[in-house]
Amino acid sequence: MKRGLFIVFEGPDRSGKSTQAKLLAEWLKKKKKKVILTREPGGTRLSEKIREILLDPKGRIEPLTELFLYETSRIKHTLSIILPALKTGKVVVSDRFTMSTTAYQGYGRKIPIKTVETLNNLATCALKPDLTVVFNIPDRVFNERERLAQKLFGPDRMERESSQFRRRVNKAYKILSSRPGVVRINAVKSIEEIHTEIINIISNRFGFK
Ligand SMILES: Nc1ncnc2c1ncn2[C@@H]1O[C@H](COP(=O)(O)OP(=O)(O)OP(=O)(O)O)[C@@H](O)[C@H]1O
Ligand SMILES: [Mg+2]
Repeated sequence: MKRGLFIVFEGPDRSGKSTQAKLLAEWLKKKKKKVILTREPGGTRLSEKIREILLDPKGRIEPLTELFLYETSRIKHTLSIILPALKTGKVVVSDRFTMSTTAYQGYGRKIPIKTVETLNNLATCALKPDLTVVFNIPDRVFNERERLAQKLFGPDRMERESSQFRRRVNKAYKILSSRPGVVRINAVKSIEEIHTEIINIISNRFGFK
């Protein structure tokens, strides 16, 4: 039986997830909640090893291999960190979870969304977050950053490919943030403003004072 609270931070690269996950965990601790701050891929020894493989820029990994590595890491993370903590009534704050795989491997790498979500369910015993906070980067800001990156790194083939990939991921988060149980945050606001917005949402939803 799940008794705790599961809060997940999602969004494109460099959108502010880790910054806000940390601030929320600190705020919850001040409220005397028992908090676990964790991240994906990672959170356990095995999962951190898989993270190293996934984030190694030298390794070229096929989309399906990438998908299975994320899910493998997620099984361990869910079974040995998240579920036990929730069972004992803790608040678990996770920096990324299943929505990342839907956005990056599904929309980004074009693996059918249904396949990704079937594996997401299997890897997590169908665990769903109580709240997913999704950071959205407005198109105007996204395009501006991409233009800057093109200027800095040049429009070579790889960069164009990854630019298209980033565009699909950014769009995916916009689509996914209209799902139930999700709140959308404008990532362009200040760190303080966003933190206040998040603690207001959490206080109202879950009755924290
Ligand atoms: N609201 C904000 N406004 C301006 N800068 C921010 C904001 N939030 C975070 N930053 C800064 O942007 C950078 C990226 O933030 P952060 O690491 O939290 O993003 P992330 O989504 O976790 O990134 P990654 O996907 O790489 O893990 C950091 O240098 C952070 O200090
Ligand atoms: Mg981060």
